[in-house]
Order: sequence, then structure tokens, then C-alpha cells
Amino acid sequence: MKIIRILIAAGILLAGTSIFASGAEDVQKQIDDIKGVLPKIAIPMREVGDRFQNMYFAAEKKNWGLAYYMSKYMFGAMKPASLTKPKEYPGWKAFYDEKFTPVNKAIEAEDFAAFEKAYTAVIKSCNECHVDSGYKFVKVVKMSTPADNGIDYTVPSKASDVPQ
Ligand code: HEC
Repeated sequence: MKIIRILIAAGILLAGTSIFASGAEDVQKQIDDIKGVLPKIAIPMREVGDRFQNMYFAAEKKNWGLAYYMSKYMFGAMKPASLTKPKEYPGWKAFYDEKFTPVNKAIEAEDFAAFEKAYTAVIKSCNECHVDSGYKFVKVVKMSTPADNGIDYTVPSKASDVPQ
């Protein structure tokens, strides 16, 4: 029994040595390689675009929970950029915390007239950031149908139905 314990201990020691032997530089390179293949802005922005479009139809049909959910995960979709684009991410967070607030307030208040007004206004802010970032040719327009048709937009619900 004792010999097995000694062998295990030796094994752990050897494994540990080989990790250290690979060196901090090597570990850093592996981290950089992983970061390099994580999404930056374009990929999550596609999700932002879809969730933003879907939100409108959810609000229009009084599925306020779905509208709120779309807003929440529209914001969350950009999370990888906090790591891969740390200089650009604060601009997105500020946009959501400030410019997007009237949309969220209208969803919480279940007020479609206010929602439509805030939603239309915020499209301008989406596009302002595109212009400022050098992407003036990416111009968001409101679609006439949702981006995803596989959801029932008419389920009655409220913002507070969305799990925390
Ligand atoms: C903080 C700046 C910023 C804000 C705010 C912003 N975007 Fe973007 N968006 C970008 C950038 C930058 C790109 C170009 C992609 C890249 O740089 O990798 C982009 C690209 C896009 C694309 C094209 C994605 C593709 O490759 O197909 C869509 C769609 C989009 N944004 C939708 C929106 C919508 C909708 C909003 C508002 C709710 C919004 N964006 C707000 C910065 C922003």
C-alpha cells in the first residue's frame, strides 16, 4: 500500500514538473491562442441584430416576457467582446446602460406606444456606433417580420416572468 502511495506522489510531482517545465510563456501562448479563436464583435453582433428584431414583435403582441428576454440576451451576446475587444466593449455597455434604458422601461411598463418610440429612436444610436467604429455601411433597419419565426410571439407574459 505504501509503495502505491509513494508512486502516486512521484507521479503527481513529475506531472507538476512537466507543467512548470513547459514555462509561463507557453501557457501565455496557449491563452492567447484560445482568445484568438473566441468571437470578437461581428459574430455576437449578428445575434444582437436578430434579438433586437425579435424584441419588437414580442412587444407588439404583448409577449413582454419574451421582449425582455430578447433584450437581456441581446446585451449578454456581446460578453465575449469584454475579453476579446476590451477597448470596444465599454462602448457597448454604455450604450445598453444609457441609450437602451427607455426600451427596457417601456417593456417593464408594458407600454407599446412608448416602446415603439424608444425602439425607433435607438436604431439611430445603433447606427451611430457603426459610423463611429468605421462601419457606416452596416446600417440597421427594422424588419417587417421577426428574424426568428420559430417562436410564438403571442404568448401573454410580463417582464418579471423572465428568470433572474
Ligand atoms: C458600441 C458600438 C456598437 C453598438 C452600440 C452597436 N453596434 Fe452593431 N456593430 C458594431 C461593430 C463595430 C460592428 C462591425 C463588426 C466588427 O467590428 O467586427 C457591428 C456590426 C453589426 C451587425 C452586422 C453583423 C454581421 O456581421 O452580420 C449588425 C446586424 C449589428 N451590428 C446590429 C446592431 C444593433 C441592432 C445595434 C443596436 C441595438 C447595434 N448593432 C449596436 C458596433 C456596435
